[in-house]
Amino acid sequence: MPEIIIRTEKLSKNFVSKDRKGFRSKKKKVEALKDVDLEIEEGEIFGLLGPNGAGKTTLIKCLTTLLIPTSGRAWVNGFDILTQDNLVRASLGTMLMGERGLYWKLTGRENLDYFGALYHVPKKVRRRRIEELKELLELEEFLDRSVETYSSGQKMILAFAKALINEAPILILDEPTVTMDVPTARKLRRIVMDLNERGHTILYTTHLMQEAEELCDRVAIIDHGEIIAHGTPDALKASLVTEETITLEGVIPQKVTEDIRSITGVKAATVTSEEDGRTSVSIVTEDSRLLLPKIIEKVVGNGATVDFIKPHEVTLEDVFIAKTGRALNVDTRVVAEREGGPSGR
Ligand SMILES: Nc1ncnc2c1ncn2[C@@H]1O[C@H](COP(=O)(O)OP(=O)(O)OP(=O)(O)O)[C@@H](O)[C@H]1O
Ligand SMILES: [Mg+2]
Repeated sequence: MPEIIIRTEKLSKNFVSKDRKGFRSKKKKVEALKDVDLEIEEGEIFGLLGPNGAGKTTLIKCLTTLLIPTSGRAWVNGFDILTQDNLVRASLGTMLMGERGLYWKLTGRENLDYFGALYHVPKKVRRRRIEELKELLELEEFLDRSVETYSSGQKMILAFAKALINEAPILILDEPTVTMDVPTARKLRRIVMDLNERGHTILYTTHLMQEAEELCDRVAIIDHGEIIAHGTPDALKASLVTEETITLEGVIPQKVTEDIRSITGVKAATVTSEEDGRTSVSIVTEDSRLLLPKIIEKVVGNGATVDFIKPHEVTLEDVFIAKTGRALNVDTRVVAEREGGPSGR
């Protein structure tokens, strides 16, 4: 049996924020995490997949001792996050706030040296380690410039280097590729896999299902603060085979998507992308062959032009859609400004 290296037990975190509307303000509770039970095994790449506002960062902040949970408990590397926070932090390399976790007036090298010292890495080791990271992450070109001159991708790579400076057994990376271009993101994922091969356990959050599928041994899907599914990507996808999914692409008015959703046997119909008036709709059904004629019926004569309709391979996003009826790119943040808007003042 593999060792459990990170464990949470009914971990919950509530935020109370003020909803401001003109002169009035109202307190509002957000349950960012609800009774989260997770077990992450030593040596695995574990993905936390969820849309904006799902609670990923909140969970990571609790595990890295930056936030105190409202209730519940958690252990990292065998240490209690509440009572052994120093030992928890010493077990972790973290990339959390991306570029905001760096000192912009310092050079890349000075940043790495500073954070290494914070982690009690001896000076000589720090120097060697920075040289290694320079090679590994190709930092040469900008390492001795001040961070404020970096591109956002370069800042993110340096933030990643910072997570590696103390050679911790566990790496926690919160959406590390979010502002990177495609080749840089690919490089980061490759290095994450290398580090994993060398024995590091990795907790990786993302809202990109391809990234989770490509990288992770196991995935937990989080939505509105709750873990709604977890397992290997294959097992999660296999849980849908009896249901089957269909992709519909073309000019598809919203009404048509709603009509499809109302067909008996259709479990979900969700717009997954919309570009230049062309829409892609993902449909999760109980039996796609049986329901295809009914779906076509709803499309024809309803102002829709369909370029293609075909059964598609199940993805992790379909697992999310089947459970929630929403696509992963939908923002689920509960914040004051949405209701508040520009009213009042
Ligand atoms: N300090 C805070 N005060 C009030 N609400 C907060 C606070 N921090 C987070 N929240 C709310 O908690 C919920 C979870 O936020 P969190 O940042 O954990 O989501 P996330 O999954 O990391 O999203 P993203 O993909 O956008 O980074 C959101 O509804 C968010 O608005
Ligand atoms: Mg986040």
